[in-house]
Amino acid sequence: MCGIIAYIGKEPALPILLRGLRRLEYRGYDSAGVAILNNGGLNRVKTMGKIDILSEKLKDQELLGTMGIAHTRWATHGGVTEANAHPHSALNGKLMIVHNGIIENYRELKNQLLDVSFVSQTDTEVLVHLIGKYYSGDLRQAVETALAQVRGTYGLVVTHADHPDKLIAARMGSPLVIGVGENEHYIASDATPILAYTNQVVFLDDGEIAEVSRETIKTFNVRHEHIQKRVEKIDWDEAQAEKQGFAHFMLKEIYDQPTVFQDAIRGRYNIIDGTARLGGINLTDNQIRDINRVIFIGCGTTSYAAMAGKYAFERLAGIPAEVDVASEFRYRDPVIDNHTLVFAISQSGETADTLAAVREAKRRGAVVRGIVNAVGSTIARETDGGTYIHAGPELAVASTKAYTNMIAVLILYALQFGRLRRLSLATGLRVVDALREVAQKMKETLELSEEIKKVAQKYSDYHNMMFLGRGINFSVALEGSLKLKEISYIHSEAFPGGEMKHGPLALLCPEFPVFAIMTKNQLYEKMRSNVEEVRARGAKVILLATKGDDRALELADDVIYVPETMELLEPLINTIPLQLFAYHMAVILGKDVDRPRNLAKSVTVE
Ligand code: M6R
Repeated sequence: MCGIIAYIGKEPALPILLRGLRRLEYRGYDSAGVAILNNGGLNRVKTMGKIDILSEKLKDQELLGTMGIAHTRWATHGGVTEANAHPHSALNGKLMIVHNGIIENYRELKNQLLDVSFVSQTDTEVLVHLIGKYYSGDLRQAVETALAQVRGTYGLVVTHADHPDKLIAARMGSPLVIGVGENEHYIASDATPILAYTNQVVFLDDGEIAEVSRETIKTFNVRHEHIQKRVEKIDWDEAQAEKQGFAHFMLKEIYDQPTVFQDAIRGRYNIIDGTARLGGINLTDNQIRDINRVIFIGCGTTSYAAMAGKYAFERLAGIPAEVDVASEFRYRDPVIDNHTLVFAISQSGETADTLAAVREAKRRGAVVRGIVNAVGSTIARETDGGTYIHAGPELAVASTKAYTNMIAVLILYALQFGRLRRLSLATGLRVVDALREVAQKMKETLELSEEIKKVAQKYSDYHNMMFLGRGINFSVALEGSLKLKEISYIHSEAFPGGEMKHGPLALLCPEFPVFAIMTKNQLYEKMRSNVEEVRARGAKVILLATKGDDRALELADDVIYVPETMELLEPLINTIPLQLFAYHMAVILGKDVDRPRNLAKSVTVE
């Protein structure tokens, strides 16, 4: 996730910006850059890779200016190159910008800038030239006019060499905070790089623009009216600020889900045609119609997300779909031809088994595409197209937001393929409508955290646990079970409800609680019978049920109610209480939530 730090004050800006960039490193980045106003001109230095390299490049430069902007980039549009790193510039280097977020309509905007020769592949460079186009002496007005045409998200800071006394900051969907010092101000994407200097801050809200000088902060709302903002005191230390006040990265990432889910679907669905368009697939509509089989490959959580994708592909697109654990796929003899589409799914894009499976599938002639979080990672580069899931950096070892965003992208693909084949407009529209409601329902589900903590407390003395789900919720059961064992070290297993009689029922007794996903869908009554079987063996039951399902109470010791959604989208909601359950359990048991024993975030060896 990109990071921003900017400074205007009385001290040389460069050391403050470099220190700030280092504090932002935790967000993950692939390149960085800085621009300082020095002797009337903006001096800019950018690099791929680490802040140390940037610092080395700057070491012989006499940059004593007291105003500057800086950025760490996590690539979204365009690869990892120095040209794509921020700050981006216009007006012959007099105007510069650092930007977090995604400008969705940057291609349209580019059409207004036909006389510009772009040097990068980024949406941000389009934006800075648009601001340049409207600049005629009033910097804030130029920013406001340009932003009025923008669709998408931004947190940005703009500087102009002819305005040594001000920085312009604006926010829409990507956080910005202004630190208040004495005759100096700091602007950053989160409070982390500011806290070494001040704990007095102003948080910008969506649609607001700030004109920040050494002495004052003038803020304006979306209608360009002057507004008064409160200066707040934050009591976080730097470590807390990195986690935006959450106790652990995992919890922060669980709470990121409504926002990053919107990043995953934004601009990718069509409300008129009830379809989706993921251009990165690099296949014509006819080539898509020619695909007669889909294989998803991934490991761990990723393979469970794939399982939800399998249901979506079969249901919406009518294409036979399979999930293969990458470590098995690479050593099997998979039957593959050039009508087989292989999706390699990976958060890190570096998992050794998945990468080996990609190479094997390509060798056998499959069409191989990636569904990846880390931009520019090896799997993203070695697949011939695909889609980024836009979950932002995931730092906790236990994967959370990557799982939900992978499912989001898989559902969009299933919708796109389905609408090119057999899916009706009416069903397509229903899926799109339901997708658009998911973020709000995720937020409602997150509000259950305290309630779930109490349930976790109640079960924290047990040494075993079983998760049950049916249909698409079997993916959720597997994921809930993996989360629990991974961070709390409680032994847990997951089964489809219908499998219980075929063996697992023997395990059950009062010491072996069961967490069952029994939301209202076409398998509801089947799942109910499975839960009754479980109860008959004396096991304690926690039920995940749909709001309003009072019958659930008859069967359970504890019920967690979640908002209703379309069955295919249930994993996007139903997984959240299970993530929270595992999280609270690990905290109660005193485990190292973000760094569980024996595990690494990225498994780059076999
Ligand atoms: O980076 P990847 O998505 O390829 O990683 C795959 C698995 O190693 C990963 O999902 C793992 O299972 C998680 N840490 C579980 O929380």
